[in-house]
Amino acid sequence: MLILGLETSCDETAVALYDTGRGLLAHALFSQVDIHVEYGGVVPELASRDHIRKALPLLQQVLDDAGVAASALDGIAYTAGPGLVGALMVGATLAQSLAWAWGIPALGVHHMEGHLLAPMLEDEHPEFPFVALLVSGGHTQLVRVDGIGQYQLLGESLDDAAGEAFDKAAKMLGLPYPGGPHIARLAESGDPARFDFPRPMVNRPGLDFSFSGLKTFTLNTVTACREETGLTEQDKCDIARAFEEAVVATLVIKCRRALEQEGLHTLVMAGGVSANRNLRARLQRELGKLGAKVFYPAPEFCTDNGAMIAYAGAQRLQAGQHDGPETTVRPRWPMTELPPLRLSGVS
Ligand code: KG4
Ligand code: ZN
Repeated sequence: MLILGLETSCDETAVALYDTGRGLLAHALFSQVDIHVEYGGVVPELASRDHIRKALPLLQQVLDDAGVAASALDGIAYTAGPGLVGALMVGATLAQSLAWAWGIPALGVHHMEGHLLAPMLEDEHPEFPFVALLVSGGHTQLVRVDGIGQYQLLGESLDDAAGEAFDKAAKMLGLPYPGGPHIARLAESGDPARFDFPRPMVNRPGLDFSFSGLKTFTLNTVTACREETGLTEQDKCDIARAFEEAVVATLVIKCRRALEQEGLHTLVMAGGVSANRNLRARLQRELGKLGAKVFYPAPEFCTDNGAMIAYAGAQRLQAGQHDGPETTVRPRWPMTELPPLRLSGVS
């Protein structure tokens, strides 16, 4: 089955072609980062307008790269939520119009299910059941996964998502949006012994997260440095390092706890923050000591991309699921509401 995937939930327009027999055939992405950078965050209306400009040329590019004619497609998967409503509407309307014109089914995919299944695109991929750590700009969740659509939420952030915390800390340091990669870069030159940031909620039982206290601590540290000597480049690196250490340590502790609680030995990490090299290495090392295996997507498929939507859509379209004729997007959409794959034919 040859599936076109379209992602437009936030500030990346991304398209991919996935074949259930041959794997990923082509993918392309346009990042709107330069459009939003002067505003310090994503401007929804600008995002929607640019998705309109970029989606069709990217789609054509992907078909050309794969040497595939539109008539060969068996279905179109698009991100139906969660995300920015206008941005989602662009992808949904385009995907459903094309599907109607080409006489093929369309299916609205859950963005976080896309992230969650992205490690399945790798040659060495996890087997169910596993615990997934989903860490993106909008979500921080630990989920027990027994199969596609069989999700049990074990814990989540009570306030900011991990990516959001990276972005806010970056803003405090005068770094551009999205801040995660910039914090990670500065952290490499930071002194880990200079500051000791709090590890939020690790001493409390349970699997929920909270990053707002860490955010306040970061702000206080930045302010103190600024008042003492002015914020130097080394201060920024040291703060970035301490901040990253605190987030990584917290995530590692909760992941270990989740595996122990569920009696599982496989952890899957996905979403933009899973591109963080320190987090990947630490999870691998710490959980490896317990005999657990950690899987994550290739760096380019950690952040938003079309391949994960094409893959997730292909699994569900293959099982007979598809949209009705109406265009519905779900800006808020709990992943636990998704139907299990075995209910094939139900859409
Ligand atoms: O999954 P994603 O591309 O978009 C959402 O669905 O939200 O995640 C974007 C988030 C941003 O908050 C960004 O700062 C963060 O992922 N991020 C990182 C890194 N790369 C991206 N955070 C920490 N370290 C990174 N290397
Ligand atoms: Zn995402």
